[in-house]
Amino acid sequence: MKKIGNRVGLVGWRGMVGSVLMDRMQAEGDFNLIDPIFFSTSNAGGAAPVIAKNETKLQDAHNISALQDCDIIITAQGGDYTTELFPKLRAAGWKGHWIDAASTLRMNKDAVIILDPINLPVIQNALIQGRNNWIGGNCTVSCMLMGVGALYKAGWVEWMSTQTYQAASGGGAQHMRELLTQYGTLYSEVKSLLDDPKSAILEIDRMVVDKQRKLSAQETENFGVPLGGSLIPWIDKDLGIGKTSNQDGWGTSREEWKGMAETNKILGQGEGFDKAATPVDGFCVRVGAMRCHSQALTFKLKKNVPLTDIEALIAADNEWVKVVPNTREATVQHLTPVAVTGTMTIPVGRIRKMAFGPEYVGAFTIGDQLLWGAAEPLRRMLRILLSQ
Ligand code: HSE
Repeated sequence: MKKIGNRVGLVGWRGMVGSVLMDRMQAEGDFNLIDPIFFSTSNAGGAAPVIAKNETKLQDAHNISALQDCDIIITAQGGDYTTELFPKLRAAGWKGHWIDAASTLRMNKDAVIILDPINLPVIQNALIQGRNNWIGGNCTVSCMLMGVGALYKAGWVEWMSTQTYQAASGGGAQHMRELLTQYGTLYSEVKSLLDDPKSAILEIDRMVVDKQRKLSAQETENFGVPLGGSLIPWIDKDLGIGKTSNQDGWGTSREEWKGMAETNKILGQGEGFDKAATPVDGFCVRVGAMRCHSQALTFKLKKNVPLTDIEALIAADNEWVKVVPNTREATVQHLTPVAVTGTMTIPVGRIRKMAFGPEYVGAFTIGDQLLWGAAEPLRRMLRILLSQ
């Protein structure tokens, strides 16, 4: 295969996912291998960051000919940018490699969802076929597969149900700010009563719920309803709008739909592949965590496998997954968003047989949705391209 050049355009590097990506690229020395060109949608001509090496100015992220100069473009700018720029760039004849965090192109036939510790063979096969659209997966799906992908690779999974506990960061930076502001507002409302150890808890509770119900449109602008001290059992769009209850998609959120669609596409099975899809379904719920997505998983395995074999298989799958012993102490210490945030570790715990029968296995897993859920697969794809 022809060697891929190292002129790498970076778009959306200042946002939340982009900043995490820049940190990871610096930590791993990726900038030593590339000639980076920093693009901006709002500040073209402004000063490029110090790591820019040869370029001193920011390039215009809407300038097709400047983008065409890149061998590889990595964007964390978001779906609107992809929708607008990507077709124009390809129509202009650009044949470079497009690495994208946004979901826009994910399910396109010519796009590969990248999660190389899980699907390197799918990526390698696509490279041989000359593919050049590499799209990061949904954060929940990527974190889940980093944890329990081994069970799929072994062909043991008949179906999986997932109940998620998704952090505010999945919505974006403003959502995280809104959550914290709501917590602060609720605390201020009852601070004087909390300071008095003799105050009545039911009075505090009543005041909190009154305040939650009275939060203004501005105070709930991003989530639409209060999240602090509550939860929201619907994430992303309603796929069932206009449908009746016996039609596909009725009652399913887009986030829930992605669970099955993306899991199978990442694994190279289902539509477009010669292997049947594995059913994946469940409920996706927004909770008041900051940036770690957690999931309770139920597997129906195709056979009765001893728990020790399941744990050993999961633990051996990749260098980031860590099996947490299913004890109270280990769970509360190592299997929480607080323990996992900012780390590359994907803990999998609570692994146990369930009451439904010996083929039914439960597990709980957590991942930092900005690292494995967003930034990390992108920079690893860059490395794969540079190593061709
Ligand atoms: N859709 C996810 C969420 C984040 O809202 O948590 C992006 O994959």
